Amino acid sequence: MSDAIEDIREEALSALEQRTDSDSLSDWHSQYLGRRGAVGRLFGTIGGLPPEERAAFGQRVNALQKDLGAAFEEREALIQSQLLARDLEEGEIDISLPAYPRRRGGLHPSTRTHREFQTIWADMGFQVYQSRDVEEDKFNFTLLNLPPHHPARDMQDTFYTTDPRVLLRTHTSPGQIRAMRELGAGGTKPIRVILPGMCYRQEQVTARSEIQFTQVEGLAIGRNIRMSDLKGTIAEFAKRMYNPKAKVRYRASYFPFTEPSMEVDVECFLCDGEGCRVCKYTGWLEIAGSGMVHPDVLRNGGYDPSVWSGFAFGMGPERITMLKHGIQDIRYFWGNDLRFLQQF
Ligand code: PHE
Repeated sequence: MSDAIEDIREEALSALEQRTDSDSLSDWHSQYLGRRGAVGRLFGTIGGLPPEERAAFGQRVNALQKDLGAAFEEREALIQSQLLARDLEEGEIDISLPAYPRRRGGLHPSTRTHREFQTIWADMGFQVYQSRDVEEDKFNFTLLNLPPHHPARDMQDTFYTTDPRVLLRTHTSPGQIRAMRELGAGGTKPIRVILPGMCYRQEQVTARSEIQFTQVEGLAIGRNIRMSDLKGTIAEFAKRMYNPKAKVRYRASYFPFTEPSMEVDVECFLCDGEGCRVCKYTGWLEIAGSGMVHPDVLRNGGYDPSVWSGFAFGMGPERITMLKHGIQDIRYFWGNDLRFLQQF
């Protein structure tokens, strides 16, 4: 007498050998192992058997299901590897074909300038101190000698948050207080840092001014720091950044947090001081605001101004980047236009 289970096993296994591609293979799967397949139908007959035969029959159908499943997987792996071998043989995959060119990103021109700055200042012994973009009014103004209603606050139109004590920093100078408090160990240690970062001002956006721009602040605190140290340090930076023969000049200026305060000009590096359109025929370019740290500011940073002194400066890298690459409009910097960015 033929055995239904063994018949199906034999039929299924020999049918499987005829299947040579994945479509016919999946037909096979539904024919035998699918929900309405042959094995499923065998399970369906269990109920019609005499009770004493059910368990043994069920076990055999289970075994069949397992065996057919294993045979299916084996066949599937074989077909896959044959297909791959055939593709390789027939050259459907041409491994000698050049790959699609990969688009390479580039560094933002402003990032490049910042890196150049950081390398130079690091070589001169300045550590990078990362301060925060969102500041307290206290740090951005009050502790820098700009109490509420001080007229010099108007020099920097400010973006406030819904909390009037919290704002977007208008310059990197609040980092001076944070650096002194954090690195000065209660006014006992000298520090030498630069503080690079984004600043924000609520200004009319034009080709020459943006609501966001970067600055690089510098701060040195020590026991014997004098104006000559500031002048020498900036002159050295200018030589390394612009031109080994770069001349620097200082003009008296005013910032509430430095005293005395000076504006720093460097000889125009495009015309070597001859006078050109970029320097408006003056031969000089303004590169920094600077000065000796005001005694109040030293005190706010935790230092005793009768013992400690220091200098600070703030530079605007975008201007330098614009001059260097002949960029006419500062709005390109944060406009994210790839046609601009891909040029660098
Ligand atoms: N914070 C000043 C500005 O944004 C620049 C500055 C920094 C001046 C440090 C003096 C000392 O205009």
